[in-house]
Formats: sequence, structure tokens, C-alpha cells
Amino acid sequence: MGKRRESSAHRGGRRLGDRNCLAIVLAAGEGSRLRSARPKVLHAIAGQSLLAHVLAAVRAAGNCRAAVVVAPGADAVVDEARAAMPEVEIHVQAQPRGTAHAVLAARAALARTADDVLVIFGDTPLLRPQTLLRMRAALAEGAAVVVLGFRPSDPTGYGRLVMAGSDLVAIREELDASPAERAITLCNGGLMAFVGKTALAILERIGNDNRKGEYYLTDAIAAARAMGLRAAVIETEEDDVRGINTRAQLAETEAALQQRLRKAAMEAGATLVAPETVFLAADTRLGRDVVVEPFVVFGPGVTVEDNAVIRSFSHLERAHVGAGARVGPYARLRPGARLGRDVHIGNFVEIKEAVIEDGAKANHLAYIGDARLGAGANFGAGAIVCNYDGVAKHRTDIGKGAFIGSNAALVAPVKVGEGAYVATGSVITDDVPPDALAIARGRQVVKKSRAARLRARKGAGRKAAVKKRRAPAR
Ligand code: UD1
Ligand code: CA
Repeated sequence: MGKRRESSAHRGGRRLGDRNCLAIVLAAGEGSRLRSARPKVLHAIAGQSLLAHVLAAVRAAGNCRAAVVVAPGADAVVDEARAAMPEVEIHVQAQPRGTAHAVLAARAALARTADDVLVIFGDTPLLRPQTLLRMRAALAEGAAVVVLGFRPSDPTGYGRLVMAGSDLVAIREELDASPAERAITLCNGGLMAFVGKTALAILERIGNDNRKGEYYLTDAIAAARAMGLRAAVIETEEDDVRGINTRAQLAETEAALQQRLRKAAMEAGATLVAPETVFLAADTRLGRDVVVEPFVVFGPGVTVEDNAVIRSFSHLERAHVGAGARVGPYARLRPGARLGRDVHIGNFVEIKEAVIEDGAKANHLAYIGDARLGAGANFGAGAIVCNYDGVAKHRTDIGKGAFIGSNAALVAPVKVGEGAYVATGSVITDDVPPDALAIARGRQVVKKSRAARLRARKGAGRKAAVKKRRAPAR
């Protein structure tokens, strides 16, 4: 079937790859159903904003210019769009007067006629690049408008696709639908594709004669038909087009995406012992034969190289784990943690903005931030770097093969040379030269028999007090 589509697209004159494309992403809606102070498209799933997910799909589909339609003053949305795709065009919709009105806010982009125009909602983050390509292939087969249909488990809130045989006649929004139309199970996924040269003319025919008085993009179907043009439907599964209007849908979409990501991680050769308990970010990269134990959370920006083991209850974010390393249980890798090969990071150890070189170990109850721990060095139980003086952060540099005794405090900025030894419980404020031993703690004093005497004296005192309390009042 894929083959057939390709060849007929070819017959249409130019192959899909030669046709240029404009993707208009709508992100100017109020998102009032989320009851949030934050714009809807900036809410995140799998560690990435809804908008970034959509733009990633556009980029992966290739050969597509992107324009994002935002509300006035939505600077945070503009910043997010530019961060996700620096070359993106921004258009402002002055007032939220409906999805068709929003598309026309990008009129300047539309007027520069692309071969294909895709209209994508900023709140459908699970969209896959291959779906965008299927839509474009359907345009190449002769439809002027292509709608992405699906059959949701709960159609509430979605527009219904009104068919006559295999022809799409109209899309009816739920509020405007008759009871019979509401019973239709085939719904509008929101994504639409237009042949570039007729797109603007279709969109300009759309009026606002409906319950909400909005310009509905969905009316493009009736408009195209009135112009004698053909509209077609492509079907996809629900997980491709889940729209997020409510917090419950945000959570459902997160769950669907997590399943997709877990499956992909396992297919790429990682073992997830209990996949349903592991949370991944969209950009998590797990190497071959990585083992992830139950209950691990990956925030954005994590790469784990081959054969590493991430043990239970660990939390990782913007971190790199080298091949064969062992992390956790109960470890926290914060942004900028970079672990080399065969590093061991054990329970209740926190690493931030620090390079832990090959074979180094911090196995228990430690904090290493703004630092380097040289290859093969050992960072003892309960040892910490004191990187923050209340005003600024300072660096700690620990050389190769150094040994940091338990409960040491390294007060940054400070250097511990290669092969140096820091005694347990030391507070290190001055640099330690290579191969030196530094001891910085009060000397131990031992007083013979003093404990027994102390106990006897305290015991005597308590007996006297009890006697006094029991004595009859005079
Ligand atoms: C829309 C469709 C519905 C479809 C559903 C799929 C219309 C009229 N309805 O409904 O048929 O089943 O999506 O998820 O198109 N937006 C703007 N400016 C506006 C209005 C909306 O930029 O003036 C943006 C929103 O930010 C959002 C997208 O357009 O990203 C969709 O708007 P939304 O209000 O969520 O539409 P739905 O009611 O979900
Ligand atoms: Ca929506």
C-alpha cells in the first residue's frame, strides 16, 4: 500500500520530497479548560513542552517550513518555539476567534504559496512525522483538503466527520451537532493538509455562523466542496492525535507517550525490568544492554551508554552516564553530571555540574557539585563539597586516584592533587598537593575512667532528686 501511494504521488508530477511544505502550528488559543496561568502549549509531557513535541514532528517530517501562530504578548511561547526551531516564523493572532481565524493570522506565509500546507494544533503532541507524510501523500493523490480522522474511545469534545460514502462532506463541532451527528464515531484529529494554491481561497470562505460565533477551520470541508474541490480523510489511531484540553487529558497523553517511549527504549536494546514504573523523557537515550531497575525517573537530556545499570529510585536530569557505570539505588544526577566509564554512584549520592572520571566512586551519602573527581578516585561516605558560600558557586578539583575520607567537607574553591589522601572528617580549606595526606580535624582526647566517674556522679544526682520529690511536705 505504501508503495502504491508513492508511485501515484510520483505520477502527480513531482515526488513528495520535491514538494515544499509550510506547517502552520496553532498555539494562540486560551486553553481555558486547563485552568492554568501558563499557556497550554507550554505544558509539558515527557519533559518537553507540547509545542516542542509538535515542532519536533514537523522537523522530522523534513522539507517543511514552520510558522507558529501565537496570542499577543505570548513571549514565553515565542521563546519556546525559537528554542525548538530557531528558523521558525512567528505570527500573531490578535484575538482568539477560532481555528480558521488563527490560520489566517499566518496569511503572509500562506501568500508565499507552498506546494503543501499543513495545519497542526499545538495541543496534539503525539503526532508522528510519518502521519504528516501520509497527509501530504494524500494531497499528491488529488484531494484539495485532507483531514486526519480517528475513532476515539471517548469522542466528547471532538468534531465529527460527516461522510457520504467515502467522501467527506463536512465536519460538525460537538456543540453544533445534531443527536444523529453526535453518534458518529469517526472524529476530527485536528490535523489538516491543504494544496497550497487553493488554501487561502478556501480559508477566506469560512464564516462564523455557529454556536460559538468562531471561525472554524473544520468548515474548510464545506468551503472546499462549494468550490468543487475534493476533501479526503485519512485514518489514524487515537495515540497519534490525542488533543489536550484538560489536565486529565494531559495525564492520559503522558501515559500514552510513556508507553511509546518505553517500547522504543526496549526495542533499541535496553532492559526495563518493570517498564510501567520507569518514566522517560522524549530525548532519553539508553544504550545497548543498559538495565533500568523499577522506579527510575529520567528528566530531559539524559544519555546512558552501553551496559550501564540504573538502579531503583534514581532520578536523572541533563546527565551523561558512561558505559558500564552503576548508578543508585536512590541516586540523584542533576544537570551537568557527567559520569565516565565504570563509575559507581551509590545510594543517596547527589551529583551536579560535575565530571566523574572513569572508574571513580562515590558510593554512599555524598554531594559533589561544580567539581571534577579524577579517574579512579574514591569519594567517601558522607563526604561533601561545599560549593556555595551563600553568594557564589566555587569549584572543587580532585585529582586522579585521590582518596576523600568519610565525612570530609571540601570547602571550594579547593584542589586535591593526584593520589592525595584526605583524612576522615577533615574540613579542607587549603589545596592539598599530589600524594600528600591532609588531616584537618580536632585531635582526639582520651580521658581514662572518666566515663564511669561521670555516670556515677549523674546517677547519684538523680537518686537525690527522686528522694527529695518523695519526701512528705511539711
Ligand atoms: C478542535 C477542532 C475539532 C477537533 C479537535 C481535535 C475546530 C473548530 N475544532 O477542537 O474538530 O476534533 O480540535 O483536537 O477546529 N487556537 C488558536 N486560536 C484560536 C482558537 C484555537 O490558535 O482562536 C489553537 C489552540 O491553541 C489549539 C488549537 O488551535 O492549539 C485547537 O483549538 P482548541 O480550542 O483546542 O480546539 P478543540 O475544541 O479541541
Ligand atoms: Ca484541543
